[in-house]
Amino acid sequence: MIFLLNIFFLIFGTTLSAPKTTETYSNSLILREPDEFYLYWNYNETDIVIETHAKTSGWSSFGISPTGGMDNSDVVVSWINNDGSHHFSDRHIRGRQVLKDKVQNWFPIAIFQQDDYLITKFTRKIKICDESNEDLDIPEGTPMTIFAYGSVLVDDDIGYHNTNRGTKTVPLINSLNAAPKINLDEVEQVEFRANYTLDKSKDTEYFCTMFKLPVDWAKEKRHLIRYETLYTPGTEENLHHWTVNECGPDFEKEFLKSNSIPDPAFCYSPNWIKALSYCRKISLAWAVGGSIIQDFPEDLAYPLGGSDQETKYFFLEIHYDNPRLKNGVKDYSGVRFYATKNYRKNEFGVFTVGAEESAQGIILPPRAESFKLNYACSRDCTDMLFEQQDEIKVFSTLPHAHLLGKEIYTKVIRDGKEVAYLANNKFYDFNNQYYNFLNKPVTLKKGDEIVTKCVYGTNKKANFTYGGLATYNEMW
Ligand SMILES: *[C@@H]1O[C@H](CO)[C@@H](O)[C@H](O)[C@H]1NC(C)=O
Ligand SMILES: *[C@@H]1O[C@H](CO)[C@@H](O)[C@H](O)[C@H]1NC(C)=O
Ligand SMILES: *[C@@H]1O[C@H](CO)[C@@H](O)[C@H](O)[C@H]1NC(C)=O
Repeated sequence: MIFLLNIFFLIFGTTLSAPKTTETYSNSLILREPDEFYLYWNYNETDIVIETHAKTSGWSSFGISPTGGMDNSDVVVSWINNDGSHHFSDRHIRGRQVLKDKVQNWFPIAIFQQDDYLITKFTRKIKICDESNEDLDIPEGTPMTIFAYGSVLVDDDIGYHNTNRGTKTVPLINSLNAAPKINLDEVEQVEFRANYTLDKSKDTEYFCTMFKLPVDWAKEKRHLIRYETLYTPGTEENLHHWTVNECGPDFEKEFLKSNSIPDPAFCYSPNWIKALSYCRKISLAWAVGGSIIQDFPEDLAYPLGGSDQETKYFFLEIHYDNPRLKNGVKDYSGVRFYATKNYRKNEFGVFTVGAEESAQGIILPPRAESFKLNYACSRDCTDMLFEQQDEIKVFSTLPHAHLLGKEIYTKVIRDGKEVAYLANNKFYDFNNQYYNFLNKPVTLKKGDEIVTKCVYGTNKKANFTYGGLATYNEMW
């Protein structure tokens, strides 16, 4: 069995309505909503091909930032002059100056205007090893990308006036990087939704609703190969994240003997707290910024039901934010499962590591630019992974912290030595949470330890911050 470490998500093909791309891309993101700047990319072990669509008839720029800001970034700029000539160059930013690189390592493939968009397609090596640092290697995890576009050309070069620019974390070389072929004719779909009116007096809420697998799924195992987050138009800003949690066999054997299924409600009501203790296994998740449709690699699926498996109950937990305390927000968000009896080669599970999300688990002092906390899952903790097999392969992780999280790293320690990163995120952004797919699965062996380091920034906090489930509490 393969385990998916931690929790939450990434990117799939594209459902964006935008200008057509010049080829099919496995990865896509909107860098500026709603339709201002699109990023598409494909990559292999050595090279990456990128296509950007910037809503301008002027110039556009895209690149990688080492620190999150513009300074020291490695960028490309492109434009088309009135005389129809194409311009593309590999540059680096020092201070506010956008200087041409001595050696050009990003190469143009196509530049053209299509309706409102300037389309630029280019390629480069993932690792350039440029000693002058004008070009940066594309790092693992979720590097900070920067982009800009503008309408004014000055002296036949990009102008600073009318510039739109921004930064965004993007899992450039840790995306799924494939659009698995799914034949919807042989896929069964089931939806589970909330039906809830947000409490206007609460800025953050955890809502829970129990559901049961369809009877024939519970009887005969299905392979879950895709799931989709179902939004309610108008409540997008309130939906922060959801998890689907599996109940263990004791939920039916013990809990339901003397209790009824809790009604959909606030998750921390006494009834739910009792029920949840039987259903702690997070199996699927989505968080803001994640892909609406989530696929897995083609040889992997999450097993559901089946006579050999007694779990038939799940619950959906939805975290709502209502910072402006809007009245009467009705939400029907939820999740759609796509499952099949055409079993895939491997099944995966989910394992979560990190701090306890309680006031004892995380305590952050105020006014710290960077406060580091390490969480170890020692041998005793990883042992539970090896009850049925000597090795497991990790194919993906989902780093998760709240607003103060800035960096997240998870390493495997074997015999006192670091052997691999499971997550390597110099940048973590609460508003853009992605699955980090590993290009090569990492093998965990009996006796391994997993150490997670979170770096938090509390410089804007006047008081201590404690672990907890609300967005304004901290978590990892
Ligand atoms: C990787 O991609 C580049 C650019 O698209 C291509 O030239 C190269 O042949 C590819 N390498 C492999 C191993 O597929
Ligand atoms: C939501 O619940 C209300 C009250 O129980 C019910 O009247 C309504 O039909 C439900 N809406 C949906 C979309 O299920
Ligand atoms: C900080 O915490 C103290 C003690 O709980 C409280 O009195 C004070 O109002 C808090 N300060 C801020 C800025 O929230």
